[in-house]
Amino acid sequence: MKIDFVLNGQPVAVEAPASQTLLQLLREGLGLTGSKPGCEIGECGACSVLLDGEVVNACLTLAPQVQGRSLVTIEGIHAADGGPNDLQVALVAAGAVQCGYCTPGMVMAGEALLARTLTPSRDEIQAAIAGNLCRCTGYHQIVAAIEATARQRARPGVVR
Ligand code: FES
Ligand code: FES
Repeated sequence: MKIDFVLNGQPVAVEAPASQTLLQLLREGLGLTGSKPGCEIGECGACSVLLDGEVVNACLTLAPQVQGRSLVTIEGIHAADGGPNDLQVALVAAGAVQCGYCTPGMVMAGEALLARTLTPSRDEIQAAIAGNLCRCTGYHQIVAAIEATARQRARPGVVR
C-alpha cells in the first residue's frame, strides 16, 4: 500500500506491505539504519522514533500507522551544519556512549523530553529514558548529558 508522510521534515511517499513494521520500512525500505533493532518486542527502546513528537517504538508500530503524520528518526537529529547536535555532543562528552547501540533511542527520548521542558528534574529525565535500555554505560552518564543539554539550552540567547 502507498503511505504518505513527513519524514525528517520532507514529504515522502512509499510503497510498503500493510503488515510491515515501521522499523522494517525505515531500515530495509528507506535505508535509514540509525533506528536499531534490539529486542523487536517493545522492551529496549533501541528503535525509538518520534511520531508527531511522541516517542514510539518503531518495532511495535506498523508502517501504515504513519500515514499523514510527521516522523522524526535519529537521521533527522543533527546540528545546523549536519554534525552532531548539542545533546549528541554532551552524550559523548559524558562518556555515555560505548557500543552506541542504545544511543539513537536515548537521543530520541532525550529530545522528546527537552521539547517539553528545559528544566527537567532528575526524576523526569529518568522517567523519560525508562523505556530505553543501555547495557554498557549505566544510566548516570546519560542522565548527566541530558541534564547538561537542558541547562545549556535554557540559557538566554542560546541558538541551536
Ligand atoms: S527493538 Fe523496538 S523496543 Fe527493542
Ligand atoms: S552504549 Fe551500549 S547499549 Fe548503551
